[in-house]
Amino acid sequence: MESVQSVPLRLLVLFLLCVSKCLSLQITRLSIPSFVPNGSEESVLLDCEYTYSLKEDKKLVVKWFHEDDPNPVYQWIPELDVKLYSEKFKLDEDYIIPSGNDYTRSRAINILKPTTELSGTYRCEVQSLEGADNMEDTMTVYALPTSVNLNYSISDGVVRVVCEVENVFPLPEMSLFQIKPKTVAKSPLNDTELEYELVDGAYDLEFSTTIPEDDLPGLSDGPTFFGCSVEINGTEYSKEFKVPYFPNPVAEKQEGDDSDDDDDDGSATIAGVAPLIFFLSVLLLSLT
Ligand SMILES: *[C@@H]1O[C@H](CO)[C@@H](O)[C@H](O)[C@H]1NC(C)=O
Ligand SMILES: *[C@@H]1O[C@H](CO)[C@@H](O)[C@H](O)[C@H]1NC(C)=O
Ligand SMILES: *[C@@H]1O[C@H](CO)[C@@H](O)[C@H](O)[C@H]1NC(C)=O
Ligand SMILES: *[C@@H]1O[C@H](CO)[C@@H](O)[C@H](O)[C@H]1NC(C)=O
Repeated sequence: MESVQSVPLRLLVLFLLCVSKCLSLQITRLSIPSFVPNGSEESVLLDCEYTYSLKEDKKLVVKWFHEDDPNPVYQWIPELDVKLYSEKFKLDEDYIIPSGNDYTRSRAINILKPTTELSGTYRCEVQSLEGADNMEDTMTVYALPTSVNLNYSISDGVVRVVCEVENVFPLPEMSLFQIKPKTVAKSPLNDTELEYELVDGAYDLEFSTTIPEDDLPGLSDGPTFFGCSVEINGTEYSKEFKVPYFPNPVAEKQEGDDSDDDDDDGSATIAGVAPLIFFLSVLLLSLT
């Protein structure tokens, strides 16, 4: 157990340390917007506030880095008022902090019309002869999908459900589900697979799964729906898409062929009812 006297002593030591350290160079606040829409913002401001001591912090340098790039996006030496810019970024070179002084005025970067490629981690580094500090945070420049397409195909007794999303950034949160006949509950479809490619700063992707045809209800049970939900973190975007499922009529007929003639008549009737069920499903969908 520590003695009672040592507590104030420790505080004193901390205080003394603080006088020399806390007043010198230290980042106090990093403001980076977390989510920014692609292409539509005139500019976004990334700011890095620090405390410094005019006496101690000679040769102050402020640097901004993006991701793992060892070359700074921007660098400023207040004493000389020298600024360096990376060619990769379109920065507003005239931007100054309104309340700034000779040592803070040009500490921020103002990115013009940010696009998805500029998403990622940004790190602010301050450095002087006396000390150094750095802080980082992430910015995501998002693009909402231009199209979402949900459908299925049947072959060799397997139903493949595919949800295609075009031109989205970052990768959305997705799920596939099934709405069984006479229910409204969504049962998740498992073993999903995601394939994607990055084209011009956005993803085109296919989210899919397969189900044995035999595991799905027949048409006579009522309409079954497949669904796909798409959400993008940090945005209001959250949508669901549904498509009615029609069992392959050929498959049903073959089942009928195996047994007696009555079943054949049965599947013929079911096939005749299919367009009506489809019509009702579409009506149901448009009402909800
Ligand atoms: C982002 O916006 C720019 C225009 O500002 C546009 O050229 C680009 O295609 C957009 N990117 C995406 C992924 O939508
Ligand atoms: C969806 O798939 C079904 C069965 O494969 C096909 O008949 C239909 O035309 C497709 N719909 C769209 C919009 O592609
Ligand atoms: C998917 O997995 C969940 C949890 O393991 C299970 O409850 C559900 O029945 C599965 N869905 C299908 C269609 O197999
Ligand atoms: C989206 O947010 C959820 C919950 O906050 C998180 O678990 C998930 O990892 C995030 N997804 C991405 C792609 O960042």
